[in-house]
Amino acid sequence: MLELTPDELLTTTRSVRRRLDFERPVERELIQECLEIAFQAPNGSNLNTWQWVVVDEPELVARAAALYNAGLDDYIASLGEKTGESYIGAQVPRSEHIATSVQRLRDDMHRCPALLLPLMAGRVEGMSVFWQASQYGSIIQAVWSFFLALRARGLGSAWTTGHLWREQEMGDLLGVSVEHYTQIGLFPIAYTLGTDFKAAHRKPAAEVVSWNRFGDR
Ligand SMILES: Cc1cc2nc3c(=O)[nH]c(=O)nc-3n(C[C@H](O)[C@H](O)[C@H](O)COP(=O)(O)O)c2cc1C
Repeated sequence: MLELTPDELLTTTRSVRRRLDFERPVERELIQECLEIAFQAPNGSNLNTWQWVVVDEPELVARAAALYNAGLDDYIASLGEKTGESYIGAQVPRSEHIATSVQRLRDDMHRCPALLLPLMAGRVEGMSVFWQASQYGSIIQAVWSFFLALRARGLGSAWTTGHLWREQEMGDLLGVSVEHYTQIGLFPIAYTLGTDFKAAHRKPAAEVVSWNRFGDR
């Protein structure tokens, strides 16, 4: 385990894309251990309706990575001429760094030792805001706990949703019914190259926090 204070763990768990070690295998037991920790996250009525698919067969990893790339191409095409080739949110500090980083993961995702595909039961289409929030809130916290557990052990991941443009195809590849399950994202699992990660840019609290009434800083 890395020697990190709780605050260091929380502020330095990054989306790791350039510094994933694609050469070093990751033991199944370690992934299992991180998942068991993740399962302690809160979930509505403690129903545990989630399912978690870990992909570690190299050929399946490569095919899933290809779907991720195809999905990102769909996404970029959907941005159209208005935003050109930029990703949404490209006007943030170090945006070029993010774009390069995204590309690096695209290039190497197929070499990842393992990928995680968390699933939530049911579909959100047509659900009320209450149910949508309850559904996503019942799994996203567990995924983030998984990230933290990885980081504490010298591993890393990157939050990705690109493949969801190809959700059906991913379902077909991995035997997941898209009628009965919603895919949350696709998360690479690998040791990191070095373990020194830093806090990232975020808008200051003064710009985003209100006290009592919206807009009162
Ligand atoms: C909902 C969501 C979807 C994301 N989708 C992708 C993605 O498809 N590909 C990718 O490379 N990064 C993706 N990211 C990672 C963000 O680009 C990253 O979180 C952001 O640049 C901030 O960096 P940090 O996570 O290291 O703080 C996603 C992040 C979130 C939260």
